[in-house]
Amino acid sequence: MLSAEENRLLTRVGPGTPMGTLLRRFWLPALVTPEIPEPDGPPLRLRLLGEDLVAFRDTDGGVGILDAYCPHRRAHLFWGRNEERGLRCAYHGWKFDVAGRCTDMPSEPATSLFKDKIRQTSYPTREKGGVVWVYMGPPDKQPASLPRLEWLEAPDGYQHVTKWLQRTNWAQGMEGEIDTAHISFLHSSRTKYAHRLVHTAFADPKRNEARKDGAPRLSYQEAPYGFTYGARRDAGDDEYYWRVTRWLYPFFSLIPQVPGAPLVVSGRCWVPVDDYHTWTFGYLAREDRPFQADEIDLIMHGAAFPPRLSWGRYELPDGYIIDTSLPVANRDNDYLIDRQMQREVNYTGIYGANEQDRAIQEAMGTIVDRSREHLGSSDIAIVAARRLLIKMARALEAGQEPEVVTNPGAYNVRAIDTFSGHAQLADLLAELDATLGVARFS
Ligand code: FES
Ligand SMILES: [Fe+2]
Repeated sequence: MLSAEENRLLTRVGPGTPMGTLLRRFWLPALVTPEIPEPDGPPLRLRLLGEDLVAFRDTDGGVGILDAYCPHRRAHLFWGRNEERGLRCAYHGWKFDVAGRCTDMPSEPATSLFKDKIRQTSYPTREKGGVVWVYMGPPDKQPASLPRLEWLEAPDGYQHVTKWLQRTNWAQGMEGEIDTAHISFLHSSRTKYAHRLVHTAFADPKRNEARKDGAPRLSYQEAPYGFTYGARRDAGDDEYYWRVTRWLYPFFSLIPQVPGAPLVVSGRCWVPVDDYHTWTFGYLAREDRPFQADEIDLIMHGAAFPPRLSWGRYELPDGYIIDTSLPVANRDNDYLIDRQMQREVNYTGIYGANEQDRAIQEAMGTIVDRSREHLGSSDIAIVAARRLLIKMARALEAGQEPEVVTNPGAYNVRAIDTFSGHAQLADLLAELDATLGVARFS
């Protein structure tokens, strides 16, 4: 449980808030490359950390992320013409490049120097791993490198990234990810229709048997990137089944994959659109070869992550419109719940794992009242993530910069799924952190 004040600190991300200031010290995923595929293509409406933005790919292929509103008369730049190295406002023709410089001002005399005085707010971007990253903090604090996450370091095509809208505060999605105990309930299924790429564990009888234990012993250990937490289940005499998950600042997960499975990386992150909406990015990677088209079709089928998606425009409650992938099963259609399926097939009557997660998380209230929770021993990872984030945000308020942003190599880890005789997480990590626990692409 958190106090009302701590809950506010954790969840509010607008300019000037402590958590918003902290998140603005990190490179953040903003777009997936297919959203903005071609030079001089259509611009996109975004909102990130409560700021209204427009994104466009210019003639040279670079991505600009600018304040959405033209500095002349505040027209939305989404209506603009994306042409010849800049986005030209549709209202009076002012033109801006990806750095926010005004490069043309046809509404003023040719001799005017006015355009040189105009600078639109723009945020630096990088593109890697199928994701456009943005940095929204003070220029002098910009980290030199993106975090060296394994799926980012993988060759092009070896990773698959998707993005979709969740209608809750960002922390709610992030906490659902590290809520280990719910998997044995919410996501349990009487028939195995989850897809084979993600749920290869279903093919392993020993793991299946061990996973039936719905109350594993949980422990965690802090690390430079955040923390590791392990779920330990009994697996016979002096043997344990360990699932070791990584939580990385400020909101990335790495979920353990079964050894020998096609996937070596699976995880999510939660990027705040504003205090009440979040973009979930789901990333997968394999190490043997690029994904093939039929495998991508399977991933997009919605059994796990991502959910079933459609591309569209979405009007936020305050009237602002964003362009985004939208889950097909959502709050407006009760996630397509099928009560007969709930009786006969799975725990929820809701088809996909993320669809099940969002049904729970979005109905908690957009910002859950954490002062009214009763957390138990299965919730230690949630407690740890909140504590570390709040501590880091308060430290930054006091002038102490987050060290991890200057240590991209700290992210060079992999989650672990293994059987072991070690009963303690610290012993397990001492043995495996430098072997199974290290990213192969780095
Ligand atoms: S409002 Fe954009 S050029 Fe006038
Ligand atoms: Fe879940």
